[in-house]
Amino acid sequence: MKLLMGMIAAVALMLTSQAFAAGKVDMAAGQALAQKSGCMGCHKVDGKLVGPGLKDVAAKYKGNKKAEEMLVAKVTKGGSGVWGAIPMPPNAAVKPADMKTLVQWVLAQ
Ligand code: HEC
Repeated sequence: MKLLMGMIAAVALMLTSQAFAAGKVDMAAGQALAQKSGCMGCHKVDGKLVGPGLKDVAAKYKGNKKAEEMLVAKVTKGGSGVWGAIPMPPNAAVKPADMKTLVQWVLAQ
């Protein structure tokens, strides 16, 4: 029984590390985090709300390898001027690891 549990754990671990290696984003986790972190009060996936639609953000930075790092910093500190005059307030309460997941989720739209 113990061996079986160990094997299951090992397989689960392999599968998760494979998902990360392939650069796959956990879309359900991203969505849940975005709701929990208050992002969806200002953003929709499709179309503009207070902030830009997340599909538009993903399209703008498609192929930009530096986008993830840049956006993690921007969303944490807030800022304006890229999409219009309305500023995004800082989202400093979001943990850095969660912010990375969030930005990866946005860029995967
Ligand atoms: C109070 C409203 C508000 C909240 C809450 C908010 N945003 Fe924004 N967001 C904006 C606005 C407005 C912009 C456009 C800023 C600009 O033009 O530079 C923006 C821009 C962005 C961008 C694009 C930045 C760029 O430079 O292209 C990303 C990515 C983003 N938001 C993600 C998030 C995430 C993730 C959260 C949750 C942690 C979040 N936002 C919460 C209003 C908000």
